[in-house]
Amino acid sequence: MFLSRLSLENFRNFTKKEFHFENGINVLWGKNATGKSNLIEAIYFSLTGKPSRAGKEDELIQFSLPYARIETCVEKKKKKFILEASLERIEGNSTRKILKLNRNPIRRVSELMGEFKAVLFSPQDQSLVQGEPFYRRRFLDFMLCQTSKMYLHSYMKYQGVKDQRNSLLKQTHSSAELFPWNSKLIESGSQLLLKRLEILPELSVLSQKAHHFLCQSESLELQYLSSFPLPEQHKRDLETIQESFEKALAETAQEEKKRGITLVGPHRDDMKIFINNLDARLFASQGQQKTAALSMRLAEGMFFEKMEEEPPVYLLDDCFSELDSDRQHDFCDFFFKNTQTILTLSQEPTPDLKLFPSIKLTNSGKETVTYGISG
Ligand SMILES: Nc1ncnc2c1ncn2[C@@H]1O[C@H](COP(=O)(O)OP(=O)(O)O)[C@@H](O)[C@H]1O
Ligand SMILES: [Mg+2]
Repeated sequence: MFLSRLSLENFRNFTKKEFHFENGINVLWGKNATGKSNLIEAIYFSLTGKPSRAGKEDELIQFSLPYARIETCVEKKKKKFILEASLERIEGNSTRKILKLNRNPIRRVSELMGEFKAVLFSPQDQSLVQGEPFYRRRFLDFMLCQTSKMYLHSYMKYQGVKDQRNSLLKQTHSSAELFPWNSKLIESGSQLLLKRLEILPELSVLSQKAHHFLCQSESLELQYLSSFPLPEQHKRDLETIQESFEKALAETAQEEKKRGITLVGPHRDDMKIFINNLDARLFASQGQQKTAALSMRLAEGMFFEKMEEEPPVYLLDDCFSELDSDRQHDFCDFFFKNTQTILTLSQEPTPDLKLFPSIKLTNSGKETVTYGISG
């Protein structure tokens, strides 16, 4: 996939701006607060219809202005697309979002799910390794929702069933009332679990591959951590997972009644990350955690590429702060020959990176564009 043009109107600090990008690596550099992360966020938002950072969507609109608009030209499998996203302030701090594809309105954000794949790495991704299990589940879910319609369907179903089951658990209820919710939970939840377990070994290998490039002396491994005992590996299929899930629900029934929430299932699972066979959440340094998170993001991109036979757009915000300059060059060479990558730097690019087209952002809003220095 290739993003050729991005036009911004009232998006965060950009009042009116148009950017052109090349295939391959594009470097975006400038001092702090010149809008590098905002630009990455705008690209991500226009491709997915979702904000990349936590917070309310009205924060994306330039302070005290009524609306923001982003228009993006994308090429996918040799076809051209125009994506438009606009946000309008309505009363309070809520917003109305309008998304269009080739000038036709998109009714629901989920229709965009997986259509235009972007892999975003940001410094906050350290949470993937060091944060609560929620971050790792979100990583897996979002990756799978984008590559499997069946997963997306089961995922939405599971969320709904789990919420309704939780409200029932909070009230006085009989086992007979709970029973149909158990069956639905087991049905959709086991689909999620089966798919997650199926891709995890592959994801672990891809992460290891990326990590080896960033950091040759270290190994990286991912392992699934289920909230209930799983069937033995060679016996794992939908039926045996359903049986185990059912057994676990029966075993936690008393506790669930007391606490009023669903205590087992894919919404309580986690993924363990090992660097050199040590639990990275507990023992890795900040730098190691950040590099491992970057490796996981690159693995996500390789996974997309395999599913789609076309690489996604990589948006790498401040990914080089932990890598020395030799690694930076190898890194670019290895991953992104036929891939579009937009990366940000808070310092002037090193001579190696100067070979690539670059945009220098400044606080005055006057950017300088260089199309790479040959040789
Ligand atoms: N809604 C907004 N309207 C106007 N300016 C904004 C808005 N949101 C953030 N900014 C400004 O954007 C700047 C930060 O941009 P950012 O992209 O994070 O910089 P960096 O280049 O360091 O990544 C800050 O100066 C902030 O005030
Ligand atoms: Mg930034």
